[in-house]
Amino acid sequence: MDVFEVIKNRRSIRQYKPDSVDDKTIEKVLEAAHWAPSWANQQCWRFVIVRDAKIKSEIADTLNKLTVDNEPVANAAATSIRQAPVLIVLCAEKGKAGYGIDGSPQNDKGEYWYMFDIALAMQNLTLAAHALGLGTVIVGGFNIAKVEKILGVPNTCTVVTMTPLGVPDHKGQVSPRKQLSEVIIKDKFS
Ligand SMILES: Cc1cc2nc3c(=O)[nH]c(=O)nc-3n(C[C@H](O)[C@H](O)[C@H](O)COP(=O)(O)O)c2cc1C
Repeated sequence: MDVFEVIKNRRSIRQYKPDSVDDKTIEKVLEAAHWAPSWANQQCWRFVIVRDAKIKSEIADTLNKLTVDNEPVANAAATSIRQAPVLIVLCAEKGKAGYGIDGSPQNDKGEYWYMFDIALAMQNLTLAAHALGLGTVIVGGFNIAKVEKILGVPNTCTVVTMTPLGVPDHKGQVSPRKQLSEVIIKDKFS
């Protein structure tokens, strides 16, 4: 599949078929994630593969309500996490991305550069999954401390984001984008 086609046709998938996803396919998707660029090639990402239905359900329970049009609504991804056969949780090893060899943060974005590296890995993951006919939805609205406790994440790492992975049960709704001209600045902000 052409890369532009994969980028444009990937959609957030919130409903999944019960079909399983084999270890080889998961490895392929995670290999794509692992080839993402990262700060000083530190590869701070750690991928937790969750198949256990009880653990998935406990994690789904930590999802926050989201605000849509100023109204609190349930996070639809909670159902997705329960439905999909696999949940991939992306963690970051702290003190790597954004840090110099002297162990100090390199600029005023401080310690949070790991968010950037994890996002790059996640994007590779979602695109690779789509190219293989699988669905994903990036999840950000959840209680990090609770998920870290459930997964026994060591304090050298932190949970950043997660996605269910499975066979889509629907095509995925197109969320329209703004006109490109609205988001391009030529030379300088005026
Ligand atoms: C950082 C981030 C956090 C997100 N968190 C959630 C979430 O908690 N629940 C959810 O249903 N979708 C979540 N999404 C998915 C977005 O709603 C979705 O990507 C956006 O509406 C565009 O739709 P598309 O992915 O189909 O193009 C998140 C996406 C990103 C990038």
